[in-house]
Amino acid sequence: MRILILGSGGREHAITWKLNQSSAVDQLYCAPGNAGIAEIARCFPLNLNDFEQVKDFIEAEKIDFTVVGPEQPLVAGLVDFLTAHGHAVFGPNQKAARLEGSKIFAKNFMKKYNIPTAAYETFTDPQKALQYLEQYPEERVVVKADGLAAGKGSVVCENREQAREAIRQMMVEGQFAEAGKRVVIEEFMQGHEASLFVITDGKDYQVLSPAQDYKRALDGDRGKNTGGMGSYAPTPVLTTTMRERALLEIVEPTLLGLRSEGIEYKGVLYCGLMVTNKGPKVVEFNCRFGDPETQVVLPLLDSDLLQLLLAVHEGTVGSVDVRLKEEFAVCVIAASGGYPDRYETGKEISGLDRLDEEVICFHAGTRREDGKIVTNGGRVLGVTALDKDLKKAVDKVYRNIAKIHFEGMFFRKDIAEIGWKLLS
Ligand code: AMP
Ligand code: GLY
Repeated sequence: MRILILGSGGREHAITWKLNQSSAVDQLYCAPGNAGIAEIARCFPLNLNDFEQVKDFIEAEKIDFTVVGPEQPLVAGLVDFLTAHGHAVFGPNQKAARLEGSKIFAKNFMKKYNIPTAAYETFTDPQKALQYLEQYPEERVVVKADGLAAGKGSVVCENREQAREAIRQMMVEGQFAEAGKRVVIEEFMQGHEASLFVITDGKDYQVLSPAQDYKRALDGDRGKNTGGMGSYAPTPVLTTTMRERALLEIVEPTLLGLRSEGIEYKGVLYCGLMVTNKGPKVVEFNCRFGDPETQVVLPLLDSDLLQLLLAVHEGTVGSVDVRLKEEFAVCVIAASGGYPDRYETGKEISGLDRLDEEVICFHAGTRREDGKIVTNGGRVLGVTALDKDLKKAVDKVYRNIAKIHFEGMFFRKDIAEIGWKLLS
């Protein structure tokens, strides 16, 4: 089969890397891709917002199956468009993708179907939002832009002053344009976060290894929110009991609720969870694989990814044999100095040829220039290692990431620490 993967991040490298192990794959294509993906797939600079261009490419290259990586094209309706033209695609349609595309839609959906999440109110008028805040009983509160904001639309506020400022920036100054005109103000939830990836055809589902993502830029969860600075799986934060509760109290009612709304959800349902002392609660739903969680979740999948993704399309997910490796995987992201704010690109990357055979180096913001690999984004590389012992996997990653160099490179030193401390 000829498979096209859409996207250019570490997540798409991990998807391409895993699909490359499927015997049914004849040729992999990726658009736009990056320097790492280009080693295993033919990369083309398509504009994912230009649906016609993507369709023409699929037809010209006789692509059998397309896998959509990022959320924007899903929320914009790329799957509906390609499906209407008779092409097989992996990813939810536009209606289903609202679960990620609109926080207000997702919160109202959870309320209607009794899915545990933070208590909330929604606002379209900044004055009303500010008034609500004045009588809010807690100091800590979370302000969220309704629409997609590249992972930066949620502000965890330590006090009222910060919350006022977040509301002002979103609703008055138009920080996230239309996405910020409507906001959710919600209760702060205390606990540990976990990302649960559910692969569903709308009826049945399969669950991959629960992961933990490190969103803040600096050690000890300090600094700004980023796209994700590292991850590991499976995380002991989601104990067997909590996992069972998440499936019964969150995943199953969500799939049932979607069906009762007449929404056909096919693809990845990414449940961002807070494991609280009252049980698991939803922080957010996403409609695609996580980045950098995919860089640990797919290396732990012991069965064929293409078969699973095709089963979603065909509605046969329930009969797929999904095996998970009994190991831990850890991924640490090497980022450009300044990220998530302004950073420079075009820095030569060295040391990639010195990595141990068994570690996997997933590329994110990289490109090839005059035969060299140079930086091309904020998150540049993700180094992943596996081991039966979580601490050993951590040591392996850090031993290897230390061999990589580019000007301004930085990475977090505490990825998976919570995990191995809980286990020891
Ligand atoms: P979101 O954009 O909804 O994924 O939120 C980004 C991050 O903000 C989450 O991964 C959490 O770390 C944090 N966060 C969001 N909502 C809450 C909440 N209600 N309570 C505590 N932390 C939250
Ligand atoms: N790792 C967070 C995300 O993919 O949204």
